[in-house]
Amino acid sequence: MPRVYIKTYGCQMNERDSEAVAAQLVAKGYEMTSTETNADIILLNTCSVRDMAEQKAINKMQNLAGQTRKKRDVVLGFMGCMAQSRGQKLIDQLPDVDLVLGTQKFHRAAEYLDELLKGKRDKIVDTAEEAGSEATIKEHLLLGNRDRKSITGFVSIMQGCNQYCTFCIVPYTRGEERSRTIDDIVAECRELVATGVKEITLLGQIVTSYGKREIKSVDGKSAFVQLLEAVHEIEGLHRIRFTSPHPKGYGDDLVEAYGRLPKLCPSAHIPLQSGSDRILKLMHRGYTRERFLNIIKKLRTIQPGIGITTDIIVGFPGETEEDFEQTLSLCREVEFDNAYLFKYSQRRDTPAAAMPDQIADDVKEARHARILELVNSIAAKRYDANIGQQVQILVEGPSRKNAARTMGRTRCNKIVLFDGSTRHHGELMDVKITRTGSFTLYGDPAILE
Ligand code: SAH
Ligand code: F3S
Repeated sequence: MPRVYIKTYGCQMNERDSEAVAAQLVAKGYEMTSTETNADIILLNTCSVRDMAEQKAINKMQNLAGQTRKKRDVVLGFMGCMAQSRGQKLIDQLPDVDLVLGTQKFHRAAEYLDELLKGKRDKIVDTAEEAGSEATIKEHLLLGNRDRKSITGFVSIMQGCNQYCTFCIVPYTRGEERSRTIDDIVAECRELVATGVKEITLLGQIVTSYGKREIKSVDGKSAFVQLLEAVHEIEGLHRIRFTSPHPKGYGDDLVEAYGRLPKLCPSAHIPLQSGSDRILKLMHRGYTRERFLNIIKKLRTIQPGIGITTDIIVGFPGETEEDFEQTLSLCREVEFDNAYLFKYSQRRDTPAAAMPDQIADDVKEARHARILELVNSIAAKRYDANIGQQVQILVEGPSRKNAARTMGRTRCNKIVLFDGSTRHHGELMDVKITRTGSFTLYGDPAILE
C-alpha cells in the first residue's frame, strides 16, 4: 500500500483539512506515515497568509525534490492556500511537483493520487471552484482509529471569507463564504462524541458570519448562535469552542450565549489587528477601537474570568508612531491573555500591497519587539493570577514537550501541566494551580482541599 506523509503549515483550518485528507486516504487503503523518508507520496498543505509561510513550503519542496527524486520515485504535491493562489506556476517553478490541489479540492486527493500512481496522468493541477465543497471536510482519522482516542475534535463549519480586509489573502485563497447546514454539522459532532470526543472546536475563516445568507435570524439570534445552541444539545459533549470569529460578529446574541450555554467555554480569540481607528479603516475591518473595547467589556460582564486572545499586525502601510501607540494602549487597557503578533507582509493582489507609505523592515521589527514585551508582561501577570486557584481541566494526554507530564486545558483555554498518568486521559478534573511558566500553568490534583 502506498505510504503518505502530509506536512501542514499554517492555521487550525489547515490542520483540519490535512486530517480530512488523511482520513480519506486511509479509507481508500493508503497508509499514513509520520516520516517523509519512507513515504511514497509527500503532500505539503500550505499557508499563504504571510510570505514567510510560502517560502518555507517552497524551500521544503525544493529539498524534497532534490533528495527523493534521485533515489526513488515519489509523488510530490502541494495542497491548500498556496496551491490555490499559485496553481500551475508552482509546477513551472518546481517541475518535480506532480500535484497541485486547491482549497475546494481536498476531497479529490485520493482519486488524483490514484491516477498519478497508475500513470494515467503525468501532472494534475486542480484549483477550480466546486459547489458544495464546503461540506466535504468531514472525515476524521479517529473514527477509524479507536486505539488512539482523541478527546478534542475540530469541525469545519464554513469555508471562505467575504470581509476582504485589505491586507489579507484569505478571501482569494479560500473563496466566497459558504456554510454547511446545521444538521450536517451536528451529525458530524455527534459522531465525534460517540467515539469519546468531549470538546469540539468549530472552525472557519470567519465563523461569526456562519450561515448569514442561508439561515434566517430567529428571535434575534444569528445563524451562528443557532448553530451553537444545536451543538450544545449534544449529550456527552462537555465543551464547545470556536475560531476564528470577527469582532463585528459579536452581537448581543453571541455575548449572551456565553452566559446561557454552560458548555460554551469562557474563552475567545478575537482578532484586533490594530488599536488605531485610522488604521482599522484602512484595513477595512468594519469596527472601531471603541466598539472593540465595548465587546470586551460586555463579555467580561457576563463571564468575568473569560480568557481573551487576539491577533495584531504591526507595520501596516501608513502606520505612524501614534497609531502604534494606540495599539499599545489598547493592549494595556484590555490585558489580553495572549496575542499573536505579526509584522505586516505584503500579499500579492491585495489592496494594502499597493498602498503608499509601506513601513521599513527595521521599524516593523522594532515595533514588534516593543509590543511583544508588553503583551508578554501582561500575559505573565494574568497567568500568575491563577496561582492558588482551583480550575477545571480537560485532560488531553501526555505533554508534547515532556511525555512524562500530563497536559490539560482550562475552560479559558490555558494549558495546564501536572504529574498524571494515562488513567487521567479524557477526564474532566479539578486541579490547583501551584506555579506558572511561559503561557503554561502547573497544577496539582492531589492538594485540593
Ligand atoms: N480570520 C482568519 C484570519 C486569517 S489570518 C483566520 O483566523 O482564519 C490570521 C492572522 O494573520 C490575522 O488575524 C492577521 O493578524 C494575520 N495576517 C493576515 N494577513 C496578514 C499579512 N498580510 N501580514 C501580516 N499578518 C497577517
Ligand atoms: Fe482575512 Fe479579514 Fe477574512 S483577516 S480571513 S479577510 S476577516
